[in-house]
Amino acid sequence: MLIIEYIRQLSYPIYYTVLTAALLLLTFWIARRFAMRKMKRVVMKAEHNYQQQIVALQMQLSGKVSMLESMVEKLKLSNQELNRLSEIRSKFMSIVAHDLRQPLTSIQGFTSVLMMDSPQGGGNNEQMALNNILKATDNMNQLMADLMDISMIESGKFKMDFKNFNFNQLLNDVFTLQQVNAQKKGIFLTKYEYPNDVTVFADRFRISQVLNNLLGNAIKFSPQGGRIEIRYFVQNGSLVCHIGDEGPGIAYDEQSKIFQKFHQSDKDRSGRKQGWGLGLSIAQEIVNAHNGEIGVDSPGLGQGALFWFRIPMEPTAYSA
Ligand SMILES: Nc1ncnc2c1ncn2[C@@H]1O[C@H](COP(=O)(O)OP(=O)(O)OP(=O)(O)O)[C@@H](O)[C@H]1O
Ligand SMILES: [Mg+2]
Repeated sequence: MLIIEYIRQLSYPIYYTVLTAALLLLTFWIARRFAMRKMKRVVMKAEHNYQQQIVALQMQLSGKVSMLESMVEKLKLSNQELNRLSEIRSKFMSIVAHDLRQPLTSIQGFTSVLMMDSPQGGGNNEQMALNNILKATDNMNQLMADLMDISMIESGKFKMDFKNFNFNQLLNDVFTLQQVNAQKKGIFLTKYEYPNDVTVFADRFRISQVLNNLLGNAIKFSPQGGRIEIRYFVQNGSLVCHIGDEGPGIAYDEQSKIFQKFHQSDKDRSGRKQGWGLGLSIAQEIVNAHNGEIGVDSPGLGQGALFWFRIPMEPTAYSA
């Protein structure tokens, strides 16, 4: 009241100025409240919309999750079916391979008997035909053996029989066997002996399989009159074996592929028909089962190849 009395006593211009200021303040206060309320309503509406969007998204997500769950379920089922089919295929392969070997052995036996009975002499048609039958049955026998190995690998039944044996002797046996094939192509095989006896703890039969395939490949892919060198040595508790040839070599991008099942390099079509592309994949499985390593170095096509493998010599390598 005192303030109003005081204002009334002021001169008119001041009185109006103060009144206008008071009115302005009041208007500002009302506008502010009004704006605040409006803002609150806008925020509440936005919040509501936001909540609705979240609910919609949640519904969409749960739809997607259940879709994914049913897809995972379907995948599981088809995976089980695939495993079952793969098992059947492996079993079928091993049964066929096993059962075909018996008649093959009979064919081989009878052919050998017929060969002995047939008149000897160069250019004899009967001898040539019998020889071809023997070669074909040999190849089929090899294929059956490889297919049986592959089916054992695929079913996880490819077991190693580890024993101590003399590697020098094993290499001599393989060398003598392969020398016959090398001589037919006029290929010169050289074996560099390690000065001491090398005893390794490994599967003798399986390691002979690796050697036969590597040496067999070197002979198969080398040109007439080529040279092949085999050397082995001991390095950091491992046996290392090198087989080098002067054959067609292997292109850089092919070098890892040739260890895959059924892979045969397109570039050496001459050797393509003599095999199935299984030897190196089986050799790799064998070397891996020995905690070892296998590989090839080749400077490129036309420049020869050096295949190598290393396996630990001591039983401790397999105890882990
Ligand atoms: N010494 C080599 N020189 C050149 N190419 C080679 C040599 N060894 C292997 N290869 C290439 O690697 C491929 C795969 O070899 P792998 O031993 O697995 O099969 P393969 O000898 O053709 O048939 P299989 O061993 O089943 O009788 C060969 O087909 C060949 O293209
Ligand atoms: Mg081979």
